[in-house]
Amino acid sequence: MTSPADAGQTLVVDHPMIQHKLTLMRRTKTAANEFRLLLREISMLLAYEVTRDMPMEMVEIETPLAKMMAPVVAGKKLCLVSVLRAGGGILEGMLDILPAARVGHIGLYRDPVSLAAVEYYLKLPRDISERTAIVLDPMLATGNSAAAAVAEVKAAGCQSIRFVCLIAAPEGLKTFHEVHPDVPVYTAAIDSHLNEHGYIVPGIGDAGDRIFGTK
Ligand code: URA
Repeated sequence: MTSPADAGQTLVVDHPMIQHKLTLMRRTKTAANEFRLLLREISMLLAYEVTRDMPMEMVEIETPLAKMMAPVVAGKKLCLVSVLRAGGGILEGMLDILPAARVGHIGLYRDPVSLAAVEYYLKLPRDISERTAIVLDPMLATGNSAAAAVAEVKAAGCQSIRFVCLIAAPEGLKTFHEVHPDVPVYTAAIDSHLNEHGYIVPGIGDAGDRIFGTK
C-alpha cells in the first residue's frame, strides 16, 4: 500500500464524526461503558482511513441478473498489532471493519520514573513479514512505547507498517518520526503537550483506566 500520509508523516483524521466522538470521550464524566463504545466507533472510522489505499483487483462474479467484473481487495494481507493494554480498545473497532486480519500483541509498560518502555509480552503471527502491520495504541505520548512496538514488528521482518492512535503529543510524534521515518502515523488529534508525568494535555487521562474502569 502507498499511504496517503507520506512516510514519516502524521495524518490527522479530522472527520466531523471522529472529532465529535472524541470530544465526548475527553469529558471526565463519560463513563467507561460509553468511553469504550465511542473508542470502538472511532476505531472503525480510523480503520476506514488507514486502509483507504489498499490495492484492488477485478474479479468476475454473478449477481441474480448478470455476470459482472467487480472490485475486491488484493495485495498484502493485514496484521493488527495491539499494544497492551489500551490498544485493545482500538483493536475491537478495527476488527469490526477488518475481520480477516491476523492479530499480534505487544505488552509494554511505562517505567514511571524514566518513562522508558519496558516489554513484558510479545506474540506476533508467524507470517507477519508478508503482511502490512497496523500498530495500535490510543495514546502516542512520549513516543517511547510506540517506537518500541514498531521496532519489534520490524525485528519480526515486517516492512510495511502504519501506526494508529487516538491522540498524539507533538513531543512523541517528533521522537517517533526520528526513530521510524518510514512509518506514517494516523491520529484523530494532536494535543498541546505532555505534562511532567508523561500524560497528554488536555488528552483523555489514562486510556487503559478509562477503557477498563480501573480508577
Ligand atoms: N498514556 C495514557 O493513557 N494517557 C496519556 O495521556 C499518556 C499515556
